[in-house]
Parts: sequence; C-alpha cells; structure tokens
Amino acid sequence: MDLARFDCHPDDGASQERCEARKCCWRLPMQQGNLTEKHRTNFQDIGVPWCYYPSDFPTYSIVSNETTDFGQRIRIVKSQTTFMPNDILDLTVDLIYETQQRFRIRIYDSVNKRFEVPLNVPVVEKKADMTDYEVEVAQKPFAILVTRKSTGVTLDFFELLQYTIESLLGVHPFHINLELNKTGQTNIHGQFILNANAMDVNLQPLPALTYITIGGIIDLYVFTGPTVQNVIQQYWDVIGKPLMPPYWTLGFHLCRWGYGTIENLMEVMQRMHDADFPVDIQWTDIDTMDSHLDFTYDNKTFHGLPELIRTMKAEGKHYVNIIDPGISSTQPPGTYPPYDEGLKQGIFITKYNSTEPIVGEVWPGPTVFPDFTNPKTVEWWTKLLGAYHEIIPVDGMWIDMNEPSNFVDGSHEGCTTNSLDNPPFTPHVYGGNITAKTLCTSAQQYLSSHYNLHSMYGYFEAKATNVALRTILKKRPFVLSRSTFAGSGHYTTHWSGDNAASFTDLYQSIPTILNYNIFGMTFAGAEICGFNDDTTEELCTKWMVLGAFYPFMRNHNAIGAKAQDPAVFSWEAQQIMKQALLMRYSLLPYWYTLFFKASTISTTVIEPLFFEYPNDEITYNIDRQFLVGPAILVSPNLVSNSSTVHAYVPQDVWYEFSSGIQITTVGQYVDFDTPIQKINVHIRGGFIIPMQIPGPDLVIGRGNPFVLLVALSQSGNASGSLFWDDGDSMDTIETKTYNYFEFNVTASNVLAINALVTNDKNSSMALGMVKVLGLHRSVTNVNVNGKAYSNFIYNIPDDILLIYGLDLNMLDETSQTIE
Ligand code: NOJ
Repeated sequence: MDLARFDCHPDDGASQERCEARKCCWRLPMQQGNLTEKHRTNFQDIGVPWCYYPSDFPTYSIVSNETTDFGQRIRIVKSQTTFMPNDILDLTVDLIYETQQRFRIRIYDSVNKRFEVPLNVPVVEKKADMTDYEVEVAQKPFAILVTRKSTGVTLDFFELLQYTIESLLGVHPFHINLELNKTGQTNIHGQFILNANAMDVNLQPLPALTYITIGGIIDLYVFTGPTVQNVIQQYWDVIGKPLMPPYWTLGFHLCRWGYGTIENLMEVMQRMHDADFPVDIQWTDIDTMDSHLDFTYDNKTFHGLPELIRTMKAEGKHYVNIIDPGISSTQPPGTYPPYDEGLKQGIFITKYNSTEPIVGEVWPGPTVFPDFTNPKTVEWWTKLLGAYHEIIPVDGMWIDMNEPSNFVDGSHEGCTTNSLDNPPFTPHVYGGNITAKTLCTSAQQYLSSHYNLHSMYGYFEAKATNVALRTILKKRPFVLSRSTFAGSGHYTTHWSGDNAASFTDLYQSIPTILNYNIFGMTFAGAEICGFNDDTTEELCTKWMVLGAFYPFMRNHNAIGAKAQDPAVFSWEAQQIMKQALLMRYSLLPYWYTLFFKASTISTTVIEPLFFEYPNDEITYNIDRQFLVGPAILVSPNLVSNSSTVHAYVPQDVWYEFSSGIQITTVGQYVDFDTPIQKINVHIRGGFIIPMQIPGPDLVIGRGNPFVLLVALSQSGNASGSLFWDDGDSMDTIETKTYNYFEFNVTASNVLAINALVTNDKNSSMALGMVKVLGLHRSVTNVNVNGKAYSNFIYNIPDDILLIYGLDLNMLDETSQTIE
C-alpha cells in the first residue's frame, strides 16, 4: 500500500538510479483517485516517497530471546549490509516494562559501547507487576508491537529499517497521539525518543513517524496515559519536573537590545514609572558589556550601572542581564580572566584530537566555548558569576546564543574531513550541514564529541547557571535559556527566540508556548510586541494583552527597532496595557499555585483546550485560544483591524471574567465583540480562583488581602487551591516551608477553607473578599465561621454575590467557613 511506504532516500537528490542502487523500489505513488478523502489529504500534506524500502529489504531477525527481571532481552542480527556505511550487524534489544503505564525499548550495539544521552532518567530493574499495555515481538522481520490492553489499539509498532523540519532552538523529541475509537472515549498516549544526535523526524501518511538519527542508541519510551495529563506526568517522571520559579519572575519584564547608554535606560525606566506601569524586572542586553565581553560592563556608556541596579533593588525591583557562552580569545594575555583562567583549567571545547580550544566567532570576535559537561567548568562559571555579581548584582541570568550559535561555520579554521563533521547522512538541519553556524561537530567535550552533545549545549549551560546562582544568591534561581533539551525545564525557563513584530508571530506564540508547556518548560514566553522589525501601536497593544497571559511576560526588542515599552504609546493604548497588567497581577496567586502544581504533580500551566475536553473533536485544532490552568479561557484578538474574535466555547459553564456574567452560548463557535480595549477571558464553572488585590508593583501587592473568585458549576459546586510561600527561598517545597489551602463550595452553599499546610507563618494570608458567580438564588444572609456577617451585596440580575471587607486570617484555623 502506498501509504505504508517508508522513505529509502530521505536525503536530497533521489533518483531511480540512486534508489535502485540502494536495493530499494522506485515507483510513483498510485493514482490519487484510489485514495479515500482522508488519505488523499494525508497524501498531499505529508507526501508518499517515490523511493521506498521493499517488504523483503534485508533486516534483523531474532537469535535469542530471554526473560529478565525487567522484561525481555532479545538479540537480533542480520548478515547483509546496506547502503549506509558501518552497519551494526548484532544488536541487543531490552524491553523494559518500567511501570504500569511506561514501556521502554532500548536497542544498542551488542559489542561496542555507543554514546548514550547523559540525562538522569529512572533506572528500572524490575518488571512492573501490572501493565496497561501488551507487547508482541515479531520474529522475521524483527518488529515490536505495543497495544493498549483495554482497547487493542496499536500504540507503537516499531520496525528497524535503515531510514521535516529545519533545526530549531531546542530538541524535544516527544509527541502525544490521540487514539480515537468507536466508544467515543479518547485515549491518549505519548512517545519519547531519548536521543540527542541530529535527527529527522518524518511524519508519513500511514500514519507513521520515522526517526532518522545519526548517532547514539535507540531508546524509546511509550507512555500509555490514558489521559493527556497522565501522559505528561509519565513523561516528566522520566525527564524531570519543571522548576518552581521565584514569585517576582511572574511580574512584567522589560528589556531591549540597544538601550545603548545608561541615560537611555534611565529615561525608559523613568517614563514607565511616570506612566504608572509596574516594571518588576528590568533587563539589559549585550550593549551594557564592554566590547561585548562577558562578565564586564561598559564603564563609559553605562557608567553608574552598579549603583542604578542597587537603587532599583532597594525599591523591590529586580534586574536580569545577559551572558553568552562565547568567551573572547583575543584579549591581551593577563587582561581577561575568564579566558586566561579557563585556558589554564582546560575547560574549553577543544578541536578534534587536540588540546587546543576550538575558536569560533560571536559578538566580541573570535571566541572559545566553555564545555559545561565538565564539572570543572561549573566551578569556573560559578566563580566568574560570583565575582560579576559582586559588581553587577543580578537576580537572574539570561543565557543566550547557546545552541551554541557561531557566526562562522564550524570554526575559524573550518572543520575536519572526518565523518563526525561530514556524516554519510545529514538530517535537514539549518544550512544543510551539521556544522553550519555552530561548532565543528568533531570538537571534543568532556563527556563525548560535540557531534553527540551539540543538542545539549544549552541544557548543560542552564544546569551550570542554575547551580551557580543557587550558590551565589542562596535564593531560588532564575535562568532564561534560548536553547533547551528534554529536561531543561528542571533548570531554566525559556522564550521562543527572535520573533518578528507581526500578527503572524503574535498568533504563533500561542502554539509555541503550549508546546513548551508539554515539554516540561512551563515557564515560557515569547517576545511581546515582537523582537525584529518595528511594532505598531495596535500590534503592541494586542500583544501586551495576550502577553499578560503568557507564563513568562517579557517585552523585548531588537537593536535599531523603534521603542516599544508601553509608556511610548498613546494614553488610550497605555490604559489597555495597564488593564491587562492589572488583570495579570490580580491573578498571580492562581498562577503561582499552577507553577507549584507543575513542579509537584506535573500539570501544565497553560494548556490547549483539548486537554480539558478530550472527547470534543472541535477542540483538537484550536491553537488561537488556550487555557490558563484548567479554569481560565483566553481568546485573544490576533487580527489586525478586527474587533471580533471568532472563538470556541466548549460545552460547560462559563462566566465572563470582567463582568462575572454567565454566557449562554456554549458548545459552539461564538463571534465575541472584542474591540482592542476588551480582554476576552472566561472563567470555567466549578473552579475557585485565588486572586490578590494588585499593588503598584509585586512587592507592595504581595502583602495585600486575597480574593476568592468562586465560579459555580451547574450543580453549584466549585473547588480550588492556593500555594503561597515567601516567594524566593530555595527548596521551600522540599522543606515544606509554605502554606497550602484547599477551597470547596458544595451545593449547600458553604465555602470551606481548609488549611492543609501552614508552615510559612511570616506571609500575610488575609482573605479580604469573596466573589461568587452563578449563584441562582437570592442571598439574604451570610455567616462567617458561624457568625452573621453584613458586608455583602447580591447583584440580582447577574446572580453575583460579593462578600467584602473580610479580614479572615487563613492561617488561624485549619478549617473555616463562609456560608
Ligand atoms: C539573540 C537573542 O535571541 C536576542 O534576544 C538578543 O537580543 C540578541 N541575541 C542580542 O543579545
């Protein structure tokens, strides 16, 4: 069947002659008229290869199959080689029944040790007693079939054949699959290939997914879910849970490349202050450095920067600066300790078969690259950051250009001719060459070659920076990294890189951040108002509104682009931006609790609609709307000159956030009137959202009373929770030095506040107001802890109850009630 063809010539330049030389078949796909409508679409979208493996293409067969403590160990061999050099003729396959829902297949060379990804994944030595999956092994050709026990649906059919998208800033070879079946119940499973080498991942119409990786071993995980939340939990159990961010990092971040001078920076800060915008975190870019040298600042153009930062910090604000991995190698000897010291300690990545550092080029000119897989590098980095911090007291670090990015291909001297720099197959990477705009892949690192470790450069730098900041600040670290790998979310936050000031990129930011949430990088964002090119007032206003619902909210733009800090826009635009910021700041207790849950019970912070409505097929393609946690639906205006948002409202109970009014058109697309000044946000019935009366900035806001927004379900129930701690101490979760509350409203109209953990007695935990939406009966009296309470208003037409002026210390009792 054409749709089942596997590409035998994934590299460019396929022809009949070349195809047949590979002992593969060359044939045009059959006429499209024979295809079903669904397949035709797949056929056109995904493409059926003309050069494909014949069914009798020589592959592996089993020579032994033994039962082990973890499952099965199988030896497979083949006698014929293929068109690729260095066929491995003898392989070992471990089938590891890791948990009830997690199955792992490891296929490796039986004789020679190969590179394995240095990620600390769980090691399981004993087979799970019960599994939700069934595994079948086919003899010849060798294949593994994994099915879901309850439905018989195939989760993974793995066949060994010798088998797109251009390289991105990070590598996360994980995906989730929806299994539609006749019962109407949608099960979901996930798959992760633990492999860090350059690879192509090709989607085929069968449907099938082909991984073509040029190194390492095949180490494949199948997660059986069955819900998407379960799949994500199972994936994060392997790669590590996301970090808990410091509270201050949830505020508004302002940055630009090209403040140019301290006067310009101060002018922007002043105008933001004068316009009453909260800027909780001010950033600067490489233009503060002296000649773009890491760990320096330009004492002429940024004279007084240390003092400015100290003043800013005294006002409760925070400061983050950039650092690039490229260390200048051309400063006069004895003048630049990062290079001199690093050279002495041998911590830079070296040329192939040499002890000399490999030299590339970044902002300061010729540069060498620290090898963060070397423990000595972490010490060197910590020492340098510590000394830098003494002068420039940063609160967090922005690690950029860490793919690693290089302005020349490979190195100043070019690369070797060996197969590490010129592999027989090159995946569809940037520039069509694996050394394009990065280091020669033959370069040597402490743990292995750059060929094997390239995709993990940012991961190791983030880990080192996280460790360094913990040591220096003795506080919860904040790191923002451009390049990431599976598991990076444990150490760093992420932004989507250099987007453009366009409506396309405004929209694209949503699927990007949603994906990063799935990859365990819950604290992710995109450059608000656009990085490259000049923004417009309309775009920037709409983007600030959307950005107020990004986990990480930073406005940043490129050198040369027009200023886009909120204070440069008209009074009207500023009001809208402020309103969005106010909304964000009032919701921070909810956000903070979501981050706590992400790092403890592995739930995403923002999610696509289908996560909550997996049986509603309409939700599957929605990527212009999203949910913050399970309860807040954001349907932003992403179109220029438009004041209508065509948005889907899932079948459920929904309240408009600003008015509290229940909307009645649900289970369908609705055209919401959304002029630029309106923020289209809805709250889902059944949830209690912890909020806080915002202050002019985060520091002041933190002490303000909490507010509970209770959105009742159809049956009059709602629940929610609140996590709170001092905001930036290290390991408060591990040491349980926090407060945690659960809130429940039952149909009997009682709101119960249960204090489950109350170990942070220093934080003010006063509840000031409760707002109840969807209470379909008039309220004539309210009792707080059994005593009559008179400060309440019942809004009859909209069914909203407001209980105000409360001063309830939630730490006082383990259980308190409002009814
Ligand atoms: C590239 C980064 O993606 C961008 O955000 C930054 O402004 C420039 N490097 C300059 O440091």
